[in-house]
Amino acid sequence: MGRGPRPVVRGNARLGPREFYDALPSTQDRAIALARDGAPEGTRVVARRQEKGRGRLERAWESPVGGLYCSVVLRRPSAHAGLLPLTVGARLAVGLRDRFALPISLKWPNDILVGAVGTPMRKLSGILTDEVASPSLGRAAVVGVGVNVSLGRESVPGALRDRVAALDEFVSPAPSVEEVETIVVRAALEAARELRAQGGAEAARELCRTLLYGVGRPVTVDGHAAGTMESLGEEGELWLATPTDRVAIWAGDVRVEEAR
Ligand code: BTN
Repeated sequence: MGRGPRPVVRGNARLGPREFYDALPSTQDRAIALARDGAPEGTRVVARRQEKGRGRLERAWESPVGGLYCSVVLRRPSAHAGLLPLTVGARLAVGLRDRFALPISLKWPNDILVGAVGTPMRKLSGILTDEVASPSLGRAAVVGVGVNVSLGRESVPGALRDRVAALDEFVSPAPSVEEVETIVVRAALEAARELRAQGGAEAARELCRTLLYGVGRPVTVDGHAAGTMESLGEEGELWLATPTDRVAIWAGDVRVEEAR
């Protein structure tokens, strides 16, 4: 990196090299640059805050201090690569659920939602995946994960307040951002390894299906009523039932109508 912010660099033999910054425009952009330079699997970039955090669908990802902002370099599986983002989400959902006993679900394609029974589900974490060519890994996938760890409500823009949750609302004392980082990096590495293993895609699909939020409910895609959520397909696509047919959704902004 040229004359940008200086990272603290250290590593953990099992998780991979780590760059830590007080502030970065986006950990994702820095990790993509490292992947293009041949960084090994497990390399991760973490920042206390981001100035231009990126979300899916060209959205901004608000990144104040108190959240985890982490991007991990992975070897892209040669088969079923479309399952990777979902599988990272599923593994992370399980990691957070098991550690903190949270009522957690996976919203297609890769948001993690949390909510007690009878209350609306809210977004706890979002995942963004970029693919790049890497001289050491062939194709690399850079998986960027944001987790709301302890966000003051005032740091969340008004329009998002009812849709966003943070771990400190459910866990006392609030977990450290470092502990959540370890759960995220383990989840990402496990997901990539699982999809490369014999029979791994099947197991990954099964886990994603178990955690999938909204099955049986009406959904909109990019603002239009699109059908009733039916199931997750072989390559991670979402199947909807319409009055006359079944349709597969591969991308887009899917919203589930909450049960009343
Ligand atoms: C989404 O839900 O739209 C995905 C959000 C992904 C945010 C993370 S935070 C770490 C990494 N750096 C970014 O700029 N974006 C991802």
